[in-house]
Amino acid sequence: ATGLHRVPKALSSMYFYDDAGSRLFQQIMQLPEYYPTRAEFAIFREHGPAIAAALSPADGGAFSLVELGAGDGAKTKLLLRELLHNGSAFTYAPVDISAGAMTGLVVALAQELPSLRVVPVVADYATALTQLRTRPGSKAVLFLGSNIGNFHPVERLDFLRQLATPLAPADRLLIGFDLQKDPRRICAAYDDAQGVTAAFNLNLLTRLNRELGADFDLAHWQHYTDYSPLNGAVRSFLVSTCVQQVHIEALDETFDFTAWEVIHTENSYKFTLPQIEALAAEAGLRVVTH
Ligand code: AVI
Repeated sequence: ATGLHRVPKALSSMYFYDDAGSRLFQQIMQLPEYYPTRAEFAIFREHGPAIAAALSPADGGAFSLVELGAGDGAKTKLLLRELLHNGSAFTYAPVDISAGAMTGLVVALAQELPSLRVVPVVADYATALTQLRTRPGSKAVLFLGSNIGNFHPVERLDFLRQLATPLAPADRLLIGFDLQKDPRRICAAYDDAQGVTAAFNLNLLTRLNRELGADFDLAHWQHYTDYSPLNGAVRSFLVSTCVQQVHIEALDETFDFTAWEVIHTENSYKFTLPQIEALAAEAGLRVVTH
């Protein structure tokens, strides 16, 4: 919660994903307005064999398939099926910050794909990258769901550089970037009619109340997002609807909010193909196909 000392105030989107937040995100992925999940599903359905081939080592040998931010792994199952069908020798290592999401995934995989070798890891990205360094053998890394869009540009490059470091030239990395498109479609995806995205954003305050003894009154906070087609950024905010003070017991501090002051809670960047090429080059990666 130290971001509340910043100007403007901010909280990291990493904290969205307690078990309640992860469940709300599962609901977001089902929303009619939230197109990225369906788009990624369609890509896996249409191009499954080509994607499986591109992720497998050229020599047909064994490899680790590491997925950062696996969540419920729903779309990855299509790829896992494809790889198993091809007789690929691989171990699936899903990494997620939510223990609840990970347990759900492991149980589902044991039922649906019993022959799959799974080594689950409950960790944040930083820990996952450290573990990647010590993982021997051929690797393919998945970073799907437009998670790359949640990094600030400087952190994004830093993250990709760190991701590239433990990878050998023959290792593979598949990233799900969301491309820039009709701004109205993007805005709707982050401000749905049912208010699930609002609940997801506001859950951050519920979490602060529960875990840090804060006294945010949710009746005085609103969800708000904007999208700039100039830099491709969707920004999400929690808006204070009145003058108020919030005490956080764990910090033994009180924070003042003016009416309509915001807490910046998330960036969701949208990309262009030339930006992706440039980013890869800067991070020491080479785009093989998209
Ligand atoms: C997880 N991440 C890629 C989602 C996104 O699109 O930025 C999180 C999200 N925030 C609001 N809706 C979905």
